[in-house]
Amino acid sequence: MFARTAARALAAPSSRLFSSSASRLTKVAVLGAGGGIGQPLSLLLKSDPLVTSLSLYDIRGAPGVAADVSHVDTGSEVTGYAADQLDQALEGVEVVVIPAGVPRKPGMTRDDLFNTNASIVRDLAASVARVSPDAHILVISNPVNSTVPIVAATLEKAGVFNPAHVFGVTTLDVVRAARFLAGVSGVSPSETVVPVVGGHSGPTIVPLLSQTKYGKSLTGEVYDKLVHRIQYGGDEVVKAKDGAGSATLSMAYAGAKFANALLRGLNGEKGVVTPTFVKSPLFADQGIDFFSSLVELGPNGVEKIHPIGELSAEEQKLLEGCLPELKKNIEKGKAFVA
Ligand code: NAD
Ligand code: LMR
Repeated sequence: MFARTAARALAAPSSRLFSSSASRLTKVAVLGAGGGIGQPLSLLLKSDPLVTSLSLYDIRGAPGVAADVSHVDTGSEVTGYAADQLDQALEGVEVVVIPAGVPRKPGMTRDDLFNTNASIVRDLAASVARVSPDAHILVISNPVNSTVPIVAATLEKAGVFNPAHVFGVTTLDVVRAARFLAGVSGVSPSETVVPVVGGHSGPTIVPLLSQTKYGKSLTGEVYDKLVHRIQYGGDEVVKAKDGAGSATLSMAYAGAKFANALLRGLNGEKGVVTPTFVKSPLFADQGIDFFSSLVELGPNGVEKIHPIGELSAEEQKLLEGCLPELKKNIEKGKAFVA
């Protein structure tokens, strides 16, 4: 009796991290699969029933990660690729997730990573443009506010930029906001989903608590502390890891969650809406042409970019703090490629 129940439980597809309603063949690549994010992200993608083939690439260690992850008893095939096999890794891929690059140490900003990560991301994007130009690209490498414009400009240069296919992964801010608001409100995080808009660094992270059931009544010190924690959650982890890097496990969770949302949209599921940093018309008249807001994901990637909606006076101030910094970060990314 126990054995039968246990066998059924082991065979059952996963938790609330993944949901799947339909299925088609989807090949996903992880570039930077040997790293702190890449390894657990590869494991989580192996567990996603919507991923049918997983291509793991890194300049170090991807074949070992692939051999390990490939023993997990889900249907997908896993192949690892060494440093000189990037083109093979990208062959036939529909979704490319990029966590390649260096992480922060205490005292650094995300922008301090620009000098190292900009060229890593540009070169990987150039290979995607050449080998799998129709792929959807999910950018995790920091500084996201600049690396996404770098990817877009690189694809544009190659003549293959499709704005519906390039995403900055800001899901960790959304995950943190839900978790931290749940802590303050004493309810489950499933009840405290918060739209987080703007970009992915300190003042550019703008949580819209006024649009949520449990956040809208928060005021004073409780509100200020919560907003600060959402904006600077990354620093908490960098400090606690004390020189050993930044968020990896929660980021892998967030990356897998966003990839699953995209795959559900690609599969034709309706109503898949989540914040992500994309080429956006919302503030383009102010020279800010990338912005994170609620985006509906569908068979073509970005289906619809939602406006940010009504803001409280506090949120209006947060947005005013976000826009000039975001503009600078975006321009820096574009200038790097130009
Ligand atoms: P890590 O150093 O543990 O791993 C990075 C991996 O990238 C390494 O395995 C390295 O070999 C690989 N790499 C370097 N250059 C490469 C190249 N040209 N091609 C392929 N692989 C290459 O770092 P990590 O902790 O996994 O973080 C990775 C990046 O993700 C950092 O830039 C970090 O700031 C960022 N990050 C973003 C978010 C977010 O919310 N978007 C959250 C956490 C971390
Ligand atoms: C995060 O938000 O945790 C990441 O962007 C990593 C970092 O540098 O804080």
